[in-house]
Amino acid sequence: MPAGPLTGAISVPGDKSITHRAIMLSALANGETRITGYCPGEDCLNTARAFQAMGIQIEESPVSLHVRGKGQWGLTEPENPIDCGNSGTGIRLLTGLLAGQDFFTVLTGDDSIRRRPMGRVVKPIRTMGATISGRKGGELAPLAVTGSRLRSITYVSPVASAQVKSALLLAALSAEGLTRITEPCQSRDHTERMFKFLGIPLRQNGTIVEVEGRPSTGWSTKGELHIPGDLSSAAFFLVGASIIPGSDVTITNVGINPTRTGVLDVLTDMGADIQLHNAREQAGEPVADLRIRASRLHGLRIGRERIPHTIDEFPILCVAAAMAEGQTVISGAEELRYKESDRIATMATELKKMGVSIEETPDGLVIHGTAGRTLRGASCTSYGDHRVAMSLAMAGLMADAPTRIDNTDCIETSFPGFNAKRLELLT
Ligand code: S3P
Repeated sequence: MPAGPLTGAISVPGDKSITHRAIMLSALANGETRITGYCPGEDCLNTARAFQAMGIQIEESPVSLHVRGKGQWGLTEPENPIDCGNSGTGIRLLTGLLAGQDFFTVLTGDDSIRRRPMGRVVKPIRTMGATISGRKGGELAPLAVTGSRLRSITYVSPVASAQVKSALLLAALSAEGLTRITEPCQSRDHTERMFKFLGIPLRQNGTIVEVEGRPSTGWSTKGELHIPGDLSSAAFFLVGASIIPGSDVTITNVGINPTRTGVLDVLTDMGADIQLHNAREQAGEPVADLRIRASRLHGLRIGRERIPHTIDEFPILCVAAAMAEGQTVISGAEELRYKESDRIATMATELKKMGVSIEETPDGLVIHGTAGRTLRGASCTSYGDHRVAMSLAMAGLMADAPTRIDNTDCIETSFPGFNAKRLELLT
């Protein structure tokens, strides 16, 4: 039998993307920063450990990270390779940040990270004068970064990727002159917002962003940086509450940065009942409480223009589509093949096991909704991808028999305590 309704109020861990940036920019700031509401997932802790290995004192408590920044040139050479674990944001942003430092670093990560494309950051940073080598000519980690004197560039990125943009913005901070980056459409803008919050001069005009390198005295800490809850983590419960009849869930203190809210727009267009309350701003980021009640969802077409603002939510949106009435067609989403797993292939394979009629296309998926009928309990795997694991766990709530998911340790990378929250809402 499917699970009972999800009811109650929860919070979710701090935003993973913003936590990475907060650690990086606090480590390079002049003075001490207390980062509260941070994401305690392994990805962000690996970034914190990277800075500890480069001579930055970071004290960790359950509520805050206390970072003793040493200024833009205060890092020291790490003795060992830096292990970024499973984190694409960690390794790509660090590549940019370290390219202009005065020392040598090796950046690596787990099996998944060592398969993911690094050329998209390595190539443009090399044109700034950086010395980076790696497997397959720098396409794959481990990457060896020999700090060099960088020069600014004008770069037109072929992908709407905040990791590429942010790696270049961080490299640009140590480059001579004005760097200009243009994206095909705007990706998440957390780096730009944090630059502005910290007083680092930056100009933005639609899809163009410009930063002047070598700010003369660096930047000062603001003392405190409060991280909003992660909308990408909230998304599992937004969908869970939408598809399980009788549900009514409030998720407090969630980031609603407009470059991330594609999932709210898509779900609303599918017929979801989502309300935003108590909208406010925190450290330059918009935040609100979200209330979601069960409703009948219907399928829709999700085209290329909607992908960047929804990029991390497709695994759970596939579950929403599987429970909806009618067909959902996702296209222009080939970037999903380069995430922690090939999310087009993994979601198609695993949801099929649960009885969903779903077809893979080169750049997306076609999902035939069951119109709220129960799914089949199945034996599934996460492929080591945290978002696939959590999406299947939510799908499992709609199944007629228990669902087993192998390899769920990866959930720790972004959402420690996920299962406890799931059970808390079920009681
Ligand atoms: C992120 C950007 C996105 C996203 C990832 C986090 C970031 O990746 O999928 O989870 O923090 O900048 P891309 O920039 O590669 O699209």
